Amino acid sequence: MSGVTSESVEIENPQPATTAPQFTQLLSATRRGARLARLLAVEQLAAWGWPRDGERIDAATLVVAELAANAATHGRLDGRGFRLGLALLPGGRLRIEVTDPRGERLPTVSGEAVEGGRGLVIVDALAEEWGVHPYPPFGKTVWAEVSATRPGSR
Ligand SMILES: Nc1ncnc2c1ncn2[C@@H]1O[C@H](COP(=O)(O)OP(=O)(O)O)[C@@H](O)[C@H]1O
Ligand SMILES: [Mg+2]
Repeated sequence: MSGVTSESVEIENPQPATTAPQFTQLLSATRRGARLARLLAVEQLAAWGWPRDGERIDAATLVVAELAANAATHGRLDGRGFRLGLALLPGGRLRIEVTDPRGERLPTVSGEAVEGGRGLVIVDALAEEWGVHPYPPFGKTVWAEVSATRPGSR
């Protein structure tokens, strides 16, 4: 009989004991859903050890709030929600992802701050990087990465 039983396979190939800290939540494409996205982000970041009264949590949750508000307004499709994703990357950066069902409409940063256009200007200022990628078959994900280690930040 071969020495490879299911038991020995289990012992020799254990599953990784840890997974990357991540959070995902489907939310309704409403003002309430967008507000909930920010509140959930505060709770999740606090659970990951970010001080609640720190600049980092303020910056990160402001980015969440603006991307969620955009998903619930410009990215809204009747009967569909949007999805918030948060992940702590190695090195401590926070990756924020907001997925909505309207891949044919893309974020545009307005040059003039005259009429609206405030949200993405804030995202651009607070994020190290941000962008958009398709979410097949017809959605998109707007993502932003926020630094964990800005000098002087908490
Ligand atoms: N998730 C999105 N889906 C479609 N269009 C978007 C999305 N986010 C932003 N946009 C487009 O980019 C523009 C700028 O967004 P933003 O700076 O947040 O300003 P505002 O939301 O006040 O219009 C929006 O007016 C909209 O046309
Ligand atoms: Mg906006």
